[in-house]
Amino acid sequence: MILANENFGKLQASYLFSEIAKRVNAYQTANPDASVIRLGIGDVTLPLAPACVAAMHQAVDEMADEKTFRGYGPEQGYAFLREVIAESDYRARGCNISPSEIFVSDGSKCDCANIQELFSEELRVAIPDPVYPVYVDTNVMAGRTGEAVNGRYAGLHYLESTAANGFVPPPPAEAVDLIYLCFPNNPTGATATGKQLRAWVDYAKANKALILFDAAYEAFIRDPEIPHSIYEIEGARDCAIEFRSFSKRAGFTGIRCAFTVVPEGLKAYRRDGTEVCLHQMWNRRHTTKFNGVSYPVQRAAAAVYTPEGLSQTNAQIDYYLENAKIIREGMQALGYTCVGGDNSPYIWVNVREDSWAFFDRLLHEAQIVTTPGAGFGSCGEGYIRISAFNNREKVIEAMGRIKAALTR
Ligand code: MLT
Repeated sequence: MILANENFGKLQASYLFSEIAKRVNAYQTANPDASVIRLGIGDVTLPLAPACVAAMHQAVDEMADEKTFRGYGPEQGYAFLREVIAESDYRARGCNISPSEIFVSDGSKCDCANIQELFSEELRVAIPDPVYPVYVDTNVMAGRTGEAVNGRYAGLHYLESTAANGFVPPPPAEAVDLIYLCFPNNPTGATATGKQLRAWVDYAKANKALILFDAAYEAFIRDPEIPHSIYEIEGARDCAIEFRSFSKRAGFTGIRCAFTVVPEGLKAYRRDGTEVCLHQMWNRRHTTKFNGVSYPVQRAAAAVYTPEGLSQTNAQIDYYLENAKIIREGMQALGYTCVGGDNSPYIWVNVREDSWAFFDRLLHEAQIVTTPGAGFGSCGEGYIRISAFNNREKVIEAMGRIKAALTR
């Protein structure tokens, strides 16, 4: 008899963005003439930067010629991409990361989800609340939690991110083993200072714990005081894995390219206390289960780091940040308290009422899609997340509609 993984039965509902898509589709079917504006899922809308398009075209031409055709590439990514990442994203910021520590992949969502295969089922896992749902759901699927009670899974240690701590939770008083952190944060848009990250690195080292640092939104940081990488904190090489993505950095949500940094000296422990090398484990997993990102896509990703690529993709991020400013100021003018939107594409709005009800109200009365905060965890109740990834005209139109609906 084929036995199912019963941990899936503990999952509370459908994946958050699938549930939202279901509600929006139902509304659109019932109201075919409604022009719905999507400020929900963080999906980019600007076309690929010309430097990336040119690099991809050229790579496709190479694939069309027998002399330059390539089959399987290295599972970890081509050296041309790993080298430019190590140099531009890390060494240029004083972080000692080598190309061999970078694993190119087809997305941070998959990497954040897959990394927990390396760890024992018994780990004590600390997860922020609110949080990007993938960290929680994949630990539920892996059997690291009990059942959900009142929106929280037994066995997980929740790190509450609230207005009281500026949406940056401090390390807990008790020991945990695996810690998920995401800055700039999805969903709140909050950023962490060097001092706040140092507290986490010190905690992780003291507890032989590991930080999984999701930096998918680092390119939106404009404040020079805010660290872009956990490796800007001394000692982080010994206790942290970092995830980065080209999705939001260069509009690759439909192209798919990301990378994970696993420092070579990073250790986990066997039950008898002896050490195992996480870099070797991840390499083993990656080479067994993954055959690499396509050559044209890696060429496009490498083009992000050329002078033209940097200037074009940074201009796109500035554009989304200007959208974020319009959204934040619009909501503030209506009397709502907001965080995020300055070093992040997300604005976290305190709507002071049930977040799914507010989501439905904006959908039905203004035809605007947002994301209800409660979908990210119980501390998200009373909030909505608004994404700045749409075009300027639609953002301005959306703010006008929201104002009309909320002041009616
Ligand atoms: C989000 O809206 O939270 C993200 O786009 C989801 C993702 O990156 O997978």
